[in-house]
Amino acid sequence: MKLRLTIAALATVTAGAAAAQDCTAYTAESSFDLEEPEILAFYDCLKDQMAEGYGAEGDPVGSVYRDWAVTSTRPAVAGPHGERLLQTFANDIAADQYLQFAEEGFVMPAGSVLAKESITLSSQRGAARPGPLFIMTKLDPGAAPDTNDWLYAGVQPNGKVMNVQQSFCHDCHIAWDYRDMLAYPLEEVRIGQ
Ligand code: HEC
Repeated sequence: MKLRLTIAALATVTAGAAAAQDCTAYTAESSFDLEEPEILAFYDCLKDQMAEGYGAEGDPVGSVYRDWAVTSTRPAVAGPHGERLLQTFANDIAADQYLQFAEEGFVMPAGSVLAKESITLSSQRGAARPGPLFIMTKLDPGAAPDTNDWLYAGVQPNGKVMNVQQSFCHDCHIAWDYRDMLAYPLEEVRIGQ
C-alpha cells in the first residue's frame, strides 16, 4: 500500500516536471489572469495538433474549418464554456453576417456554420490541452423549430463526433435570441471592432 502510494506520488512529480518543460505547462490560478503573450504561446504550441486532431476522422467541419474566416484576433477566455481558450471560425455563408456582430434584426442564412475550437486549461493537471470543437449549423427554415433551426454538434480532440444534447447547448444560447442565438467572441478580440 505504502509502496503504491510512493509510486503514484513519483509519477505525479515526474509528469509535473515533464509538463513544466513543454509549452503546454499551465499553472495560473485562474484562466482570467492569463496575459495575451501566454495565450498566444499556448495557441502557437497546440494549433497544429488541434487542427490535425479535429480532422483525424474526416469530420466534414473538423477537417476544413481552419480555411474559414477567423472571427477574433486571438483566442480568449469566456466564462460559460468553462476554463477554456476559445476561437471561432465562420464558413463562407456565415462570415459576412457574423462578422458584423450585429445586435438585432437578422437571421443567419441556412448553411451557415460556426466552429469554435477550444483549449482546456487545467491547473490541477498543470497543462493546456486541446478541448472539443463546438459547432453550430443553421438548417433550412422550419427544420428544427425547438432550436431556431440551429443544429449543435461537437468533435473531440481525437476527431470523434460527440454526442450532443440539443437542449443543453440551446438552453444557454437562447440568452442571445435577439441576435439569432449568437454569443460572439469577447468584444476586445472581435475582428475589425
Ligand atoms: C452556459 C452557456 C453555454 C452553453 C451550455 C453552450 N454555449 Fe456555446 N457559447 C457560449 C458563449 C458565452 C459563447 C461565446 C464565447 C466566446 O467565443 O468567447 C458561445 C459560443 C459558441 C459558438 C460560436 C458561435 C457564437 O455563438 O458566437 C459555438 C459554435 C457554440 N458556442 C457551440 C456550442 C455547442 C455545440 C454547445 C453544446 C455542446 C454550446 N455551445 C453550449 C455559451 C454557451
